[in-house]
Amino acid sequence: MSVELGLIGGTGLYSFAGLTNVTRVEIDTPFGSPSAAYVCGDLDGHRVAFLARHGESHTIAPHRVNYRANVYGFNQLGCRQLIGINAVGGIRNDMGPRVVVIPEQIIDYTDGRLSSFSDMPETKVEHIDFSHPYTPRLRARLLAAAAQAEVEVINGGCYGATQGPRLETVAEIARLRRDGCDLVGMTGMPEAVLARELGLDYACIALIANWAAGCGDKGEISIEEIYAHLAAATAHVAPVIRALLAMNLR
Ligand code: HPA
Repeated sequence: MSVELGLIGGTGLYSFAGLTNVTRVEIDTPFGSPSAAYVCGDLDGHRVAFLARHGESHTIAPHRVNYRANVYGFNQLGCRQLIGINAVGGIRNDMGPRVVVIPEQIIDYTDGRLSSFSDMPETKVEHIDFSHPYTPRLRARLLAAAAQAEVEVINGGCYGATQGPRLETVAEIARLRRDGCDLVGMTGMPEAVLARELGLDYACIALIANWAAGCGDKGEISIEEIYAHLAAATAHVAPVIRALLAMNLR
């Protein structure tokens, strides 16, 4: 049975509870090794594959993730729909810790990441359309699934993808805000564009772990606080994914 839905877990989400008939699939790609084995299993009768973006023990920093191998591996599994689950900082006033957002736009501030499959000497260069970086159809289904599961989410917002692994300065976040970013995270790109290059539907569930630098209560950002907020926000993911699968994505 081919995989119906791919899930990429970010910080705080290293496995997906409730899968049955689990097999761990190791995939080698022309772009190197993915972050971990793909954990394939059944969820309510639907085949899904889960990958821990940072590795199963969180050893791979955002700028070291092999995004190309990760996305390519899902394609190899026959997966056509992919959801990225990303921890983020909140910039917009209504985007505080523990809020769940289904963003609509991206600005890419990352630097030096391998962000295309068409940079091998023998591959034809393609200029793909990326006006709407998250596949509108999958976004709409995610929003409907959240409503069905009675999980409150914010529809829309712009994800600013920064290089990390350090957090940002107050001035950097002020600039992101002026640019129109509502959220900031380190892993949204190039994952989204790589999925688009392979023709996979891709959408993001952004889990707000903290106020971005200088936002909200303007205090220093503690790692303990980030993990506590993330754990609370992560609890909303499974109900939304189950409702999404109930819509029969194929
Ligand atoms: N900035 C960037 N990435 C993040 C943050 C942040 O404040 N919080 C969680 N991921």
